[in-house]
Amino acid sequence: MKIIMLGAPGAGKGTQAMMLAEKYSIPHISTGDIFRANIKNGTELGRKAKAYIDAGALVPDELTIDLVMDRLVSDDCANGFILDGFPRTINQAKKLTEALTKSSGEIDWAIDVEVPDEDIINRMSGRRMCPSCGASYHIAHIPPKKEDICDHCGAELYIREDDKEETVKKRLAVYHEQTQPLIDYYSSLDRVITIDGTKAMDAVFKAITEKLGD
Ligand code: AP5
Repeated sequence: MKIIMLGAPGAGKGTQAMMLAEKYSIPHISTGDIFRANIKNGTELGRKAKAYIDAGALVPDELTIDLVMDRLVSDDCANGFILDGFPRTINQAKKLTEALTKSSGEIDWAIDVEVPDEDIINRMSGRRMCPSCGASYHIAHIPPKKEDICDHCGAELYIREDDKEETVKKRLAVYHEQTQPLIDYYSSLDRVITIDGTKAMDAVFKAITEKLGD
């Protein structure tokens, strides 16, 4: 199964993608996680990407598209994948369609997780992330069992640099301008599943898996 997660920053794409990856035994590929790992490891890519991410802007396509295309030809993607945070521009979507048409065929579903902007600001201020396994928590809605410690791997949780309110507002503006048009792009291919992302995490997951036919 080849799935794309659409939706605003903080809509819950990463949270749902992790659960879906486990259920369907396919890799969860998050461009945001890849960039953050490169920033942490001090690579050239991380150095270039950091300025854009901290400003709430998109990392340029020339640093992003080949990175994802190379990842999709890995052996673990043979039975499908979940793309979280890619594509984010019409150009990225077209490049993905071109690449998949030449190899394994078009994506199966683009899951649009819908959450209003006003809820997003609140979610971001309470988000805590695991630097090791990428799990995402919320101090009020989805708290870890032990404060600031990841349930899955025991690492200490951290707050993302780009979760400051001003940066979140910028990210939302960029989303509406550059990424939301992808909903029309994938609707024209008859691939979009729309999900109400304001419900509790498990209810959102149930709604998605019901629509996926399982
Ligand atoms: P990225 O890491 O992809 O960030 P994003 O899309 O902005 O999405 P987030 O990770 O912020 O949110 P999410 O939807 O995954 O929500 P989550 O599940 O964590 O990208 C970061 C940056 O990298 C971009 O700004 C850009 O600069 C760059 N980048 C990445 N990909 C790129 C690309 N393709 N091209 C160019 N640049 C790119 O949930 C959010 C919070 O809500 C958490 O606290 C969570 O616990 C909580 N939550 C989740 N579900 C629920 C629920 N149902 N109810 C209540 N709370 C919930």
